[in-house]
Amino acid sequence: MSFLIAPSILSADFARLADEAASVRGADWLHVDVMDNHFVPNLTLGLPVVQSLRAATDIPLDCHLMIEDPDRWAIGYAEAGAYNVTVHAEAVRDPITTAVDLRAAGAKAGLSLKPGTDLDDWIDVLPHYDTLLVMTVEPGFGGQSFMPEMMDKVRRARRMVQTGHLRLVVQVDGGIAPDTIAEAAEAGADCFVAGSAVYGSADRAHAVAELRRLAET
Ligand code: DX5
Ligand code: ZN
Repeated sequence: MSFLIAPSILSADFARLADEAASVRGADWLHVDVMDNHFVPNLTLGLPVVQSLRAATDIPLDCHLMIEDPDRWAIGYAEAGAYNVTVHAEAVRDPITTAVDLRAAGAKAGLSLKPGTDLDDWIDVLPHYDTLLVMTVEPGFGGQSFMPEMMDKVRRARRMVQTGHLRLVVQVDGGIAPDTIAEAAEAGADCFVAGSAVYGSADRAHAVAELRRLAET
């Protein structure tokens, strides 16, 4: 299996985003956490910053929308050139239309599940999606502890991909670090978001390479 490593700029220096994007050499996606202080109790950045970031870096942008009313906003991120746009199951009103529109706008469509959200309730819409994000913390903040109890959700998603029922990147986000990534990979995740584990490291390229090595072993 080939693994995707997606450093999260939530833990980067927001005043130096172009340099911070360039510092994660070897990464596959750059994870961009959009928070609106309504869906989650934190506020980060929005469309203008993503537009500027798109112009400043070649790395594919993976926009994780932790916002209310994502149906209204998601397409704008696709049009801004995001590679993957993920909406939250708990916030999206019309998940199929949003996924269809994202794909029509040229982006991959992602659906994210908070820790308390059951995968079974979303299986019918997942054929319209490219990415399933299994949150391994409560969304809102970087630097929280990985929730190993989410691995059952990852395992079930991987099984559905293996049996041909779904075609999905299975992404995990929250607490992914050298001591947790192997467990998530073993459960079946193939895309790993890591904020503090990458941006908290002095040598970001090395941190990315090390996470990849640990996922592969
Ligand atoms: C949390 C965000 C994450 C965050 C992860 O709500 O979705 O992407 O950046 O940070 P770490 O890797 O530090 O847990
Ligand atoms: Zn995220």
